[in-house]
Formats: sequence, C-alpha cells, structure tokens
Amino acid sequence: MGYHFMYVCLCTGVTDGKIRDAIYEGCCSYREVREATGVASQCGKCACLAKQVVRETLADLQLSQAAIPYPVEFSAA
Ligand code: FES
Repeated sequence: MGYHFMYVCLCTGVTDGKIRDAIYEGCCSYREVREATGVASQCGKCACLAKQVVRETLADLQLSQAAIPYPVEFSAA
C-alpha cells in the first residue's frame, strides 16, 4: 500500500495500486489483470495506461524475483 496512487480507469475506479495488487496476487498478463480488476472493461480509453502499468509492474517484479527464484514454493517445513 502506498500513499501515492492514481486512477488508471475512471469508469471502474481502478487505481495503479489496484493493478499492482492484482499482479502481486498472481496475475501475470494484462488480460488477467483486466479480468481480475475490471480495468478497461467499459469505455476502453484507459487501456494504454493500464497496459503500461501492468508492464512496469511485471518488470519490477521480475527484477525483485531474480534474487529469489522460487518465492512461492519456499517452505520452512
Ligand atoms: S476509463 Fe477505463 S474503461 Fe473507461
């Protein structure tokens, strides 16, 4: 959660933070994010911006995961 966020999609009220959350929760493509959040499901004007936020977030995530190859599989048991 950040103090800075902006609306990506005014029709559905989806913020960039909501898109990031969807990706952190497992979405790995623009299509999946759109299905999960409803972003760009109405007028479609926000599609370019939404795609850009998805792309940037996926790139950030790949960088942070480079140091931890299997974060989801890891188990202390
Ligand atoms: S602004 Fe996103 S669908 Fe209209």
